This record gives sequence, structure tokens and C-alpha cells, in this order.
Amino acid sequence: MRKKIVAGNWKMNKTYEEAIQLINDLNAGLNNLSHSTDEIIICPPALYLHEAATLTRDTAKVFTASQNCHTNESGAYTGEISVKMIKSVGATYSILGHSERRMYNHESDEMLRDKVNIALANNLKVIFCCGESLEIRSKNEYINFVKSQLENSLFHLSKEQFSSIVIAYEPIWAIGTGVTASKEQAQEMHYEIRYFIAAKYGSEVAEATSILYGGSCNPKNAKELFEQADVDGGLIGGASLVAADFISIIQSF
Ligand code: PGA
Repeated sequence: MRKKIVAGNWKMNKTYEEAIQLINDLNAGLNNLSHSTDEIIICPPALYLHEAATLTRDTAKVFTASQNCHTNESGAYTGEISVKMIKSVGATYSILGHSERRMYNHESDEMLRDKVNIALANNLKVIFCCGESLEIRSKNEYINFVKSQLENSLFHLSKEQFSSIVIAYEPIWAIGTGVTASKEQAQEMHYEIRYFIAAKYGSEVAEATSILYGGSCNPKNAKELFEQADVDGGLIGGASLVAADFISIIQSF
């Protein structure tokens, strides 16, 4: 059975004190909660990863993720963070391929392939983001576009390596816009992604892969999205910055 996952991508938000407050609020809320989410992943700015991992160590089902990693393990890359650093502070995952990094940091499919490789080589699991722009959707090319993102950055992996990948489908037009993909639009793409994985790795691997939806997911729409057959949870941006909203989404399965 694939895991139900809710991940919170804080992006570049929260001061140190605000971050600690949010982690404490999440701990307090989650410790008294019964829910059926298998994994909750907190993805704070890298500066706070160590605290996030340490403070949530005793909170059931909580893991931490970086929002990026470098293609090299160490070296003269001012301002960057490596997978070894991320692992050493207790994180379990790295988000890779977020559309904001593809856009603002010019991250190509090929660069992401290198990042995926170095993450997996260091036992860091990957939340791999894919998703199309409004322009690509309006030309009706969105399914092939997402397929090419998966092929170019992931489909060189072995079956065993692929078991460390979580997919996040995040249509760019839905991120931070308040426009959520409809449950039908989300299900259509998640079904296709699972189909592509099955064609490459077989149905057993496809059935075991968690595919998250991201893009203006909130406490109001999470339930109907998570009810879709191929939606295994969410990658949450804005709504992960408020403990009560994030916890409400965790309870939406
Ligand atoms: P959003 O962001 O929930 O604020 O739309 C999602 C994401 O970018 O991961």
C-alpha cells in the first residue's frame, strides 16, 4: 500500500522565532491528534532544518525535508547546501524540481537528474515536483510535458532507487494563485503519472508510489482532492504556514 503523505513547503517564509513557534504549534496539535496520514513532512528553510528535525523527533510520523540541494557533495559553491549537510542535520527528504526553482534558478531537467542522483546516493529521499504552465495546458500538451519531466529526470533510476521517490504534481497555474486544480484535473494527471510509472517500472512499483497534489490546496478543498483514487496527499505551500490549517489538511484523509 502506498503512503498517504502531507508535506508543508514553507518556501522563504518565517523568521527563526516564528519558525520555532510554528514547529511547537504543530507538535502540540499533532501529539493529541488521531489521523490516518502515514507521513507528515515539514520543509522549512534550510537554516531551520536542524531545529525542525530535532524538535519533531518524538512526534509520530513527522519527517523533515530540505527545499533543494546542490549537485555536488561539497566544494567551492558559495551559498549552496549539500546533501551531506542536509542528511547530517537529520532530514529525510529533499524537495527537488519545484517550479519556482526551475523558473528563478533555471534548474533544467538534466540538472535535476544530477540532484536526484546525488540525493539518492546519500540516502536522502526525494519529493520530485512536476507540472505544467497555463500555456502548456491551454495547448493541450500538459500530459506529454509532465511525462517528459519524469522521463528526463527520473526514468534512468533503477526500480529499487525509484522506491525512494515521491512525486508531487503541481500545476504552475495553481501554485499560490488560489486557483486549485479541480478534483477531475488532479485525478486525470495523477492517473497518467501512475500509468507512466507502471509502463516503465511495472504496476507493483506504480501502485507503491505516492503521488501528491500541490497548488492552492487548503483545508476546504483537501478532502475532495485526497479522495481521488490516485491522489495520495498534498504538497502544501501557503496553508502550511498556519499550524491549524496544516493540521486540518492532515486530517482530510
Ligand atoms: P501553494 O504552494 O499551496 O501556496 O499553492 C504549493 C507549492 O508550491 O508547493
